[in-house]
Amino acid sequence: MLSKKVTDCNAHGQDSSYFLGWQAYEKNPYDDVHNPNGIIQMGLAENQLSFDILQTWLDNNPDATGFKKNGQSVFKELALFQDYHGLLSFKKALVNFMSEIRGNSVTFDPNNLVLTAGATSANETLIFCVANPGDAFLVPTPYYPGFDRDLKWRTGAEIVPIHCSSSNSFRITKSALEDAYQQAQKQDLKVKGILITNPSNPLGTSLNSHELDLLFNFISTKNMHLISDEVYSGTVFSSPSFISVMEVLKNKNLINSEVSKRVHIVCSLSKDLGLPGFRIGAIYSCNEEVVSAATKMSSFGLISSQTQYLLSEMLSDGKFTKSYLSENRRRLKHRHETLVKGLQKVGIRCLKGNAGLYCWVDMRHLLSSKTFQGEMELWKKIVYDVRLNISPGSSCHCSEPGWFRVCFANMSEQTLLFAMQRVKSFVESMSKKNSPPRHEHLRLSHARRTKSLPKWVFSLTSNQLEVGDLR
Ligand SMILES: Cc1ncc(COP(=O)(O)O)c(C=O)c1O
Repeated sequence: MLSKKVTDCNAHGQDSSYFLGWQAYEKNPYDDVHNPNGIIQMGLAENQLSFDILQTWLDNNPDATGFKKNGQSVFKELALFQDYHGLLSFKKALVNFMSEIRGNSVTFDPNNLVLTAGATSANETLIFCVANPGDAFLVPTPYYPGFDRDLKWRTGAEIVPIHCSSSNSFRITKSALEDAYQQAQKQDLKVKGILITNPSNPLGTSLNSHELDLLFNFISTKNMHLISDEVYSGTVFSSPSFISVMEVLKNKNLINSEVSKRVHIVCSLSKDLGLPGFRIGAIYSCNEEVVSAATKMSSFGLISSQTQYLLSEMLSDGKFTKSYLSENRRRLKHRHETLVKGLQKVGIRCLKGNAGLYCWVDMRHLLSSKTFQGEMELWKKIVYDVRLNISPGSSCHCSEPGWFRVCFANMSEQTLLFAMQRVKSFVESMSKKNSPPRHEHLRLSHARRTKSLPKWVFSLTSNQLEVGDLR
């Protein structure tokens, strides 16, 4: 009686360990007073570090929240019919904010902007605009688990992974691009483009100019689209600096070129301003047809007028945006360091990151076996015994078991330190379990000592050395 979309809900990806971890957290959420033994949520890329700055701005600008402009009510204007083009004042404020995040090295035209209900909707809308059901997009791994839902579920498009590896810190290489392309061809899929996340979720790194050059050469020669999801652009807290695809177009003198019509940016205020509940996203494209079609499609997920109004007031305040961005980056950097150093103390290393709300953590040495089954076993222990919800690399389609994404910006510093204590106890208990009992320890150290001795020593001193024990 129901449609295939309803009966085949697996394609939504809800059964991924990424979402299962959230469910476990929701059943037993940590609270320092009411549930101190609960699960700490470290699987949510949310930025709660700078709410006080937003709150202060709201307190100082009561007109913006009171639907007023210069003391006069704009309530009726906001409540009545909204054209799907969005409020021009908001679009202007948003493109200025986007430039500011990119160090004002590039400018954006508000006419090329399409407002959407978050980046989730922006990514899906772009896929609807450039791909037919069954067409494929190449996506570097590890990638944001939500992409299986956002890019594939309703559009019918396919994702073909570009496998990146720890051997070069998960950088995109020419051979990995070529391999993914060949793989798609083997599967008879038409490749419409590449979708990158820059800075990356879950790696917490930004793409370097070599990788961006590779990508531009690839899409130019293969006549493809490049979608750059830049929702973490405002979270870059240390060097190397972030390079937007818009800067690449400018530096390569490609603005208004044929290639520029195939390059599209996805933005959002969910991460950069920490407002995921407001559902503010956008597509930026220099392709008139894409802008026109996406604007029509945006009817299915508009941003409410009062949200646009509030944010246009906030983002037009240049003094506020400047100080918000620098203070937010400073706080993220501090948090990131706290997590990295805390993990380092117990022998756990992180990929060197410069952006994002999370670290990409190497726990390969804690696996019982170097397999994805081993990763799942460790993940279950961490969620249910250590009571920390982190995301296993397999949920991000990482090709190597043992990597985990650990978020650090959705909790208080105190909670993060408490989570570190739990990790410490866990690692200590693991090493105790793995170290042999005392008599066994003596036997093994004996064995180690004797192993390094030449064979003739045994025959001479076999009585004292009890060599029989070594077999
Ligand atoms: C890479 C990436 N793109 C898109 C989204 C969705 O963002 P939004 O809340 O704006 O829909 C997320 C959320 O985590 C993300 O990590």
